[in-house]
Amino acid sequence: MRRPLLERFRQRLSLPAGLSIVSLGEGATPLVRADRLARACGLEEGSVHLKCEGANPTGSFKDRGMTLAISKALSCGAKGVLCASTGNTAASAAAYAARAGLPCAVFLPEGHVALGKLAQALMHGARVIQVAGSFDDALALALRTAKERGWTVVNSSNPDRLEGQKTAAFEIAEELGRAPDHQFMPVGNAGNITAYWRGYRELGGVLPRMMGFQAAGAAPLVLGRVVAKPKTVATAIRIGNPVSREGALRARDESGGAIGKVADAQILSAYRFLAREEGVFCEPSSAAGVAGLISLCRARKQPRGVVVCILTGHGLKDPQTPLTFKFKPQRVKAAGAVRL
Ligand code: F0G
Repeated sequence: MRRPLLERFRQRLSLPAGLSIVSLGEGATPLVRADRLARACGLEEGSVHLKCEGANPTGSFKDRGMTLAISKALSCGAKGVLCASTGNTAASAAAYAARAGLPCAVFLPEGHVALGKLAQALMHGARVIQVAGSFDDALALALRTAKERGWTVVNSSNPDRLEGQKTAAFEIAEELGRAPDHQFMPVGNAGNITAYWRGYRELGGVLPRMMGFQAAGAAPLVLGRVVAKPKTVATAIRIGNPVSREGALRARDESGGAIGKVADAQILSAYRFLAREEGVFCEPSSAAGVAGLISLCRARKQPRGVVVCILTGHGLKDPQTPLTFKFKPQRVKAAGAVRL
């Protein structure tokens, strides 16, 4: 049986003594070389790697923090747990709450959650609340409801979430023998970039430049202001008012990195490239970091040294976006001739 993530990194986490761990075997996700991507970027073969977080039990990086948040909620005798989500936090909360035997409610921006994530929340028995508004509206309603009902919030405003998520930095450094020189990743509510930076700083030694990318239509950190009506095909990062804004800006500034934006067309192009050229199917939002890397390299601003791109969620989360591409299957009779 795979050891729970929290046990593997017990020394580096602040866990209450005797915590009973709710685990689904999260973490230990593959770090794979991406030589075709490196070549397309004009970088040396062997220098670019993909951290495939879609290999977590519910298909996204959220499980790393959820194992801790739900274990703590259970040990504190929580009545129930709730979160607002663009989908992945909801899927993860619903699964870990089911395992813990806790009631769970998820607040989703209506019409902007990928189908697979909705299916997960339903299957795990969460109470699904569709909010007529954005993620930011759903979060405000979730926080108010939690206060009124005394349920525990498992959004990344809950410090246990980021504490668990920092373990991904430990895994990368362990596998490479040191931290990378540059890390490219998507940024939405900005918790993940905050958590990685904390993880790398706690390890010490080489520190990567943190390169975060937002979708152009949902880029509050690039614009320096709240975006009232965020718009992007990358629904997971369709967020106009990130909770962990300060953490993301600190990660950017302390690491000498950058937070940039990429257009939806660039995100979709990187998403297809990864699937067709590298055999790695991630969800559209996950490709934002790779889109950022490609766009810098096209502008002849190649990053030096070892590069890691974080692919935050699995492609199967969103079965609808691929069907928007031109796709013409051959129709044949069962005994017919096939063109290849
Ligand atoms: N990639 C994916 C697949 C996500 O689901 C998210 C966030 C991000 C990137 C951005 O991470 O918010 O820490 O900057 N999803 C959240 C959710 C908002 O509700 O599932 P972040």
